[in-house]
Amino acid sequence: MSLGFNTRSVHFTQKENMKNMSKTQPIYQTSAFAFSDLDDMEKFYEGEKDYLYSRFGNPNTDDLGRGVASLEEAEAGVAASSGMAAILAGVLAVVKPGEHIIASEDLYGGTYQMFAVELANFGITVSFVSFENESEILNSIKENTVLLYTESVSNPLLRVEDVKGVVSIARKYNLYTMIDNTFATPLFMQPIKLGADLVIHSATKYIGGHSDVTAGVLVGSEELINKAKTKIVSLGCNLSPFEAWLACRGLKTISIRMERQAQNAKTLAEALQSCEEVSKVYYPTTLSDKGNGAMVSMELAEGVDVETYFKSLSWIRIVPTLAGVETTVTYPLRTSHRTVPDELRQKLGITSGLVRISVGIEDDQDIIDEMVKAIKQAKK
Ligand SMILES: Cc1ncc(COP(=O)(O)O)c(C=O)c1O
Repeated sequence: MSLGFNTRSVHFTQKENMKNMSKTQPIYQTSAFAFSDLDDMEKFYEGEKDYLYSRFGNPNTDDLGRGVASLEEAEAGVAASSGMAAILAGVLAVVKPGEHIIASEDLYGGTYQMFAVELANFGITVSFVSFENESEILNSIKENTVLLYTESVSNPLLRVEDVKGVVSIARKYNLYTMIDNTFATPLFMQPIKLGADLVIHSATKYIGGHSDVTAGVLVGSEELINKAKTKIVSLGCNLSPFEAWLACRGLKTISIRMERQAQNAKTLAEALQSCEEVSKVYYPTTLSDKGNGAMVSMELAEGVDVETYFKSLSWIRIVPTLAGVETTVTYPLRTSHRTVPDELRQKLGITSGLVRISVGIEDDQDIIDEMVKAIKQAKK
């Protein structure tokens, strides 16, 4: 890879698609492509033409797959209609009916729900175990196990996964490894370089970066991405051209957004640590030497009323997503982790006092002032 990360983040569009030499990639807002005659159309099926019908592929969705693959240093990438669609396509690319997945127990609630409930309809079983404990993974490996699945930085408690450790177990037992790299972003972790087979992103988050698109991306080897693409096409999990275009536009500023957001998050985490009304601050310290991501979670101390805290915020809004340029807060217990069984939530530490903060690009002192003011006002 000769070009650096920042250069690759703005130069990923395939030049031959740039009709009329427009500076940016046009939006191919079309459901299909036209042909001069039947022989010309045949060329698509013979692999000589790239596009026939947008569900099968489109220059804008291809751009997104290519852009993220380049940043992750993966051979290939494919866009999907959401992060969940990318997860499903990745799983179905490597797991068949009758086979088994071992997944980390501290996953995003939507992924937990898909794995715990929906995959059973495909004849796929899942064991959820603590990935902090290697023996739990080893003890769960069965004859039909094919995949280890985890998040590089977990949602919402921001545990940094030992991806190398997970990969080394997978290699020993001939399993695939799939990593959700949404929270870390390719700037702070590149799981493919650590040996993972597949990496997914909810591009709805930092890849898009502006909270105006729902999208997913899956990257990995050419062979696995081709298999996943077949699932995306057959199951109709494709992304629309405009959404892909928006995500690509967002991708171009990923470095500068993430650097600023991660710096703000670090400063906020330090301020919260010295706030006596906060009993615990979750902020990674070991993700990368470039930064530790832009998510901070905090446990409000006893005697601080959560409802009053949320009501006391003035310009920081309560939004059940993350990763935009604006700082937002959410309440995992009643949103992202609502469907996770109570017992597991208790075990993980997803409590009634837990608040998840997605730190934006504002002035850091404004974020701290607003946050601390709301916490103090919520003191009973
Ligand atoms: C870590 C993680 N992975 C996957 C998803 C699912 O992404 P999407 O909402 O784009 O389907 C989310 C959504 O919040 C998430 O936080």
